[in-house]
Amino acid sequence: MVEVIDLTDWRPLNVIKLRWIYHQIQERVRRGVRVDLLGAEEDLAFFALVNASPLDSSKSSSPHVPVMVSEVLAALDLSPGMTIVDATAGAGGHTEAIAQQVGEQGRVIAIDRDPDFLRATARKLKPRYPWILFKVGDFAQLRSILNELGIQSVHGVLMDLGLSSYHLERSGRGFSFRREEPLDMRFDPREGQPASWVLQHLSERELQTLFRVYGEEPWARRIAREVVRERKHRPIQTTGDLNAIIDRVVPYPHRSKAKARIYQALRIYVNRELDRVARGLVEAIQALVPQGRLVVLAYHSLEDRLVKALKNVSGLRPLFKKPLTPSEEEVLGNPRARSAKLRAYVKEGEIDEAWLLAHLRAVLPVVGRHGAF
Ligand SMILES: C[S@@+](CC[C@H](N)C(=O)[O-])C[C@H]1O[C@@H](n2cnc3c(N)ncnc32)[C@H](O)[C@@H]1O
Repeated sequence: MVEVIDLTDWRPLNVIKLRWIYHQIQERVRRGVRVDLLGAEEDLAFFALVNASPLDSSKSSSPHVPVMVSEVLAALDLSPGMTIVDATAGAGGHTEAIAQQVGEQGRVIAIDRDPDFLRATARKLKPRYPWILFKVGDFAQLRSILNELGIQSVHGVLMDLGLSSYHLERSGRGFSFRREEPLDMRFDPREGQPASWVLQHLSERELQTLFRVYGEEPWARRIAREVVRERKHRPIQTTGDLNAIIDRVVPYPHRSKAKARIYQALRIYVNRELDRVARGLVEAIQALVPQGRLVVLAYHSLEDRLVKALKNVSGLRPLFKKPLTPSEEEVLGNPRARSAKLRAYVKEGEIDEAWLLAHLRAVLPVVGRHGAF
């Protein structure tokens, strides 16, 4: 049975209505009814945004739900005894599913750049799965992490490049524009500069490029100008400070989307995400045994552009012609999955490392003078 819910019928939309619709849909899915959610692109984006974070964000938080788990497991082609890297362990959803499949004769190396987050995940999983090894680290240095563990090669690597619920809702580092927090946005707060520093030190032109290229933000010029005007009076230190700037220059119906895009842009810059992903992909491929598999979940076009560029690399065979995307049911139950694209590759031959890195870097946009990219 299929039921259609059209968001257009509920206009004007607001948070309360969207949360109510979300619960109605979940209720139907639980009863086995398929729901087709329709609406303008803007309505659907608002629906996903609202339902990706709790109503009263100061009190509640939702657990991170791992994305496309069965597709990830199938693409990794797991069997007992394998050694697999989860290069972005996060809350450990994929890590646990992988650990169950490789069993106690196997090994899972669970890596994450965020020390606090990985410590909490290790506390949760270690007692039940002693064959998971937890390592705080950057996937851009995957082979040295493996070397430290005495591991030369692995059968598979998973990279899940999104943001976790922990970062949005509990880290206290300003990843979400829906919370009043200091603007930090570093996955590893011991490294680099916080987002507030970036807003204080980049020139207006650099900020504009950053917002346009990494956020694909149409109001980039106005927002950059307002940031520079504001910081002459007082530093922009919190999400509230930045939100007020965006509210001043972006007209009402576009504000939430503009905030989501500006926050994404800052996060990419602060964490040097794209260069790290490029290096992480190279490291992962070089660490694979022949016929080993690389599986990547990307959530925005810049990341996916890098992962897609592996299609033309001789020595790598793409498993799918087009990326896999989550089912409608999964998106309804977990709106964060909405933009996920899964690509997977099988290593079939040797690949020249320097060439591969240059090939990937050539697809990256270049932004800023601070050496981030
Ligand atoms: C979407 S979450 C992963 C969620 C995880 N798959 C799960 O099921 O819970 C992405 C994770 O990647 C981590 N991360 C981001 N950049 C990283 C890097 N360069 N090296 C290692 N981990 C990184 C983040 O700290 C975050 O925990």
